[in-house]
Amino acid sequence: MTLAARLACAAVLASALGMAGAAGLAPSPGPRVVPDTPNVVAARPGTVPGDGHWQTLFVLHCSGCHGADGAGHAGSVPDLRDNLGRFVSTPEGRRFVLQVPGVAQARIADGEVAELTNWMLRRFSPSTVPAGFRPYEAAEVREARRARLADVSGERRRIVAALQAQGIDAR
Ligand code: HEC
Repeated sequence: MTLAARLACAAVLASALGMAGAAGLAPSPGPRVVPDTPNVVAARPGTVPGDGHWQTLFVLHCSGCHGADGAGHAGSVPDLRDNLGRFVSTPEGRRFVLQVPGVAQARIADGEVAELTNWMLRRFSPSTVPAGFRPYEAAEVREARRARLADVSGERRRIVAALQAQGIDAR
């Protein structure tokens, strides 16, 4: 292609893009909308199909600290795998899960936090979720998130000790 032909192509492309913008087809700035369709992120082995939405929320809001696989970082961010379900065995532990700063302060609506937390339990810790677990709902999330914890790690230590005293092997 000659230089002139290339320039002509570039001009055609530029005007097409300009027209697309004028017609409102170009991406417009504004609040990011999280797609509501399942499987936005390809399902990983072991995930239940349809859980892609929650996986996407987790990746966007949580995995920076917790890792996409929930493994966390030894000594700083707790491992969610095969442990989180133990917390929901007591009312205090159940509430704590909603009160850690990453959850309490997440810019995600209460109902979405409820479902995201239910998904985390299924995804990272299914074997430890107690029989008869009642899934989280929006109202519970709203109430718990408003009551901020003054001492997160102290509260966590108390909850783990109480679980262990009941024979539940939380760590
Ligand atoms: C800035 C890092 C960070 C982000 C972002 C974050 N977390 Fe956390 N998360 C932590 C740390 C650190 C803890 C341990 C408790 C504490 O000290 O806050 C924790 C604790 C937790 C716990 C309790 C688990 C346990 O064993 O104590 C859950 C559940 C949790 N986070 C879920 C989430 C979810 C869901 C999101 C996203 C909406 C999220 N976190 C975002 C750092 C983070």
